[in-house]
Parts: sequence; C-alpha cells; structure tokens
Amino acid sequence: MYNVLLIGNGAREHAIAETILRSRHNTTLFSFMKSNNPAIAALSSAACFGSYDNLNDISTFARDNAIDFAVIGPEDPLNNGVVDALRGIGIPAVGPTKKLAQLETSKSFTRNLLSKYKIPGNPRYKIFTSMDGVEDFIGGLEGVVIKPDGLTGGKGVMVQGDHFNTKEEALDHCREILREHSVVIVDEKLEGEEFSLQCLSDGTTVVATPPVQDHKRRFVDDKGPNTGGMGSYSSEDHSLPFMTPADVSEGLAITRKVADAIYQETGEHYKGVMYGGFIITKSGIKLLEYNARFGDPEAMNILPLLKTDFVDICRAIIDGTLNLLEVEFEKKATVCKYIVPKGYGLPKDHPDARSTYAKIEVDDVKEAQLFYASVDKREDGLYMTTSRAIGVVGIADDLVTAEQIAERAVSAIKGPVDHRPDIGTKPLIQRRIDHMRKIRAYSQALRDQHSI
Ligand code: GLY
Repeated sequence: MYNVLLIGNGAREHAIAETILRSRHNTTLFSFMKSNNPAIAALSSAACFGSYDNLNDISTFARDNAIDFAVIGPEDPLNNGVVDALRGIGIPAVGPTKKLAQLETSKSFTRNLLSKYKIPGNPRYKIFTSMDGVEDFIGGLEGVVIKPDGLTGGKGVMVQGDHFNTKEEALDHCREILREHSVVIVDEKLEGEEFSLQCLSDGTTVVATPPVQDHKRRFVDDKGPNTGGMGSYSSEDHSLPFMTPADVSEGLAITRKVADAIYQETGEHYKGVMYGGFIITKSGIKLLEYNARFGDPEAMNILPLLKTDFVDICRAIIDGTLNLLEVEFEKKATVCKYIVPKGYGLPKDHPDARSTYAKIEVDDVKEAQLFYASVDKREDGLYMTTSRAIGVVGIADDLVTAEQIAERAVSAIKGPVDHRPDIGTKPLIQRRIDHMRKIRAYSQALRDQHSI
C-alpha cells in the first residue's frame, strides 16, 4: 500500500497520475497543483491547491496524508527545493534536490560539468559575466544561441536566424541579458535533428526510455513562434526514423557520464529523470540542454507504453536499486498532438487571441488517450485557458496508424481550437530523414577527404 504525492497540474502530470494508478500495488494518489486540473483531481483521493514555492503547504499536505514518496512533475518546484523540503520531513521523492536540479536550472552548471569531466557533447560555448570577449567569441562562430542562466519558462533563449540575424543584434541581446542576469551563455548554433532522451536515474544506474521528437513551433511546417511543444512522436522500434542505434547509445552514454560527474561534483546521487535534449549534427551528438523532469509532451509518448510497474520504478530510483529492475516499454509507435486555443502563441491583439477561455466539447474518444492540461471544469462544461488544453495520443503498431488515430480523436474536440495536423505524418518525417541524410553525407565526405 503506497500513498503517492504527485506535484504538478499539466498533461504530463495527468499521464504520470494514470501511470502511477496502473500499478499492481495498492496505490492512493494525492496531488498538489497550482491550478485545478480536473482530470488529475478526479484520479486523486485528495488534491491541494497552492503555489509551487509554498514548501510549507506542500510539506503539511504530504505529512497529513502519510505520503510514502512524491513524484515531481515540473521544474519550478524542483528549483524551489521541494525535494529537499520533503526529505527534511522524511519523505523521499522522484526528482533531484535543488542542487542537482541545476542540471536544468543552470545552463552554465551543466556546460561546465561536461567540460570539467571531459564528457563529450558540448558545442563550442563560453560563459560571460561582462561583455569582455563576447564580440571576439561571436565573431569566430557561424551562428550563435544566446541564453541567460536559470529558468526562463522556454523564453529568453535567442537563436540567430530565428530571433535575430546580425552580429550587432547578438551583442545587443547579450547586453540586455547581462542587465538582468549575472551571466550570459553563448553557444555555437548547431544544425541537425533534435531528439529527447528521457532517462531514469537512481544515481548509479541510468536507464533510457524510447527517444521522442518534440515539435516546438506553433504552426504546420515548423512555422511560427516556439511554444511549450505542439506534439511529439516515438517509433515502435524505440529509435526514430532519422536515427541510428548508435545515436541512442551515445545520448545514453553521455547521460551516464553526467550522472557520475554530478555525484563526484556534489557527493549526491541524482534520483529522478535526466531528460537530455540532444541534436545529431555533422560532428556527432551534441547536448542542447538537460531537463530535470519528464518532457511535456514527451512523457505522454512513453508513459502509456511502460510495461514495468511505475511504482516499482519509483521505489528503485529512491532505494538505488534500478540495476535490479528490467524497465520495459511496449514496441508501439505513438503520436501526440496538443489541442490548443486558436489564439495560443499569437499576439494579444490578433483576432484569434479571443479563443482563449472558450468552451470546448469533448466527444467520447475510445481509440486514443486524452491527457488534460490547462482546462477549467465549470458547472456548464469544460473551458480552455490561455495555454495548451489537451494532449491527444494515438498508439499503434506503426507511426502511420498512430497518427491517424490521433487525428481522428482531435476531430472529437469541438470549439475554437487548433492543432498541428502535420505531426507524425509521413511527409514531415521524411523531411527529417532527408535532412539527417544530407548532414551525415556531408560529415562522411569530410571524413573521406581527411583520410585521403
Ligand atoms: N518538450 C519540452 C520540455 O518539456 O521542456
């Protein structure tokens, strides 16, 4: 019998909640949410609402309900030290302490960790505390990515070619970041295909889950602004159509080295999810960033496929016995498409921006799984808020069928909503394959040239 506390209120946490309750153990779910997710509340024996920085309320709720362990969904409570607070009252958690969550919350911590422990994967980068040397460094790179240190909620990362074009603009952005933050990180801009590798770590054993590709852009064909993620897919062979088996092993090998390094650096075992955002480039796998939690939407791709009991996994992470557990996933393809208000990601003065806070109808959906995100259940029905509303997940033996299942389920949701119909489709995936083929051919040509 386990009392489990889940912290978080999104579709990712809805997927985690269902996975916890699929356990063969007698498990009771308690949830702490910053706003009411009606689906998570319905699965919970008790729900408490409050801010993720209110560690007192979270601890009191956990103690009052004799929680055995907690699972932390989003990064904010990790950054606020919720794992340390719960540990202080004897409640273990799946999620890193504040110090170890720096893997996500401090980009400079992670870049420096890889450099110090000679772990491959860093692009060319430099961390600046003033503008001294910035111009020289930027001048030597073809393109740059500029970021502040710390959590920025997906905003604050400026990519040359997307957010600005010239070297002068890059320098302006660095100055702007340094006005508000103590450091600015300048990475070389990389070209390639990205994948998310969500690994489970007990501090000594690190296990990979199937890789997933996320789609951050708001509109079809990767147009429009970046969002929290409009959808994602994974393949039945637990690779991705543009990846080689070596790419997955390389991402896992990097993450294993990082788990070791973080222990050597801090003396603490990393317990939780190490989600590597990787990119396959002409010079191999590079690390874009780590997240200290499951991805949203990527959690919705992998958790429904989990064959191993999730409560056993959580216990093994906490007890440091992950090496004794076979973590298995069904050999199925998944396609997740987020239903969003039409106005999601649009400027406030856009005519479609009014679609937020609108009512939606959800017909009975049997084929696909629906995970609720930012929705509000009122007496007269379900309303969206300003953010992503529902994650729709199709699962099948192959990607084509999984995509069709997701697409059919999307049409069961009525209202001023939008989604990306191209996610998981053949033409889009073919473009990823062709893109990667071109990059690999280029790097092979370079190798051939050097071996002559
Ligand atoms: N899908 C991106 C993230 O969870 O950060």
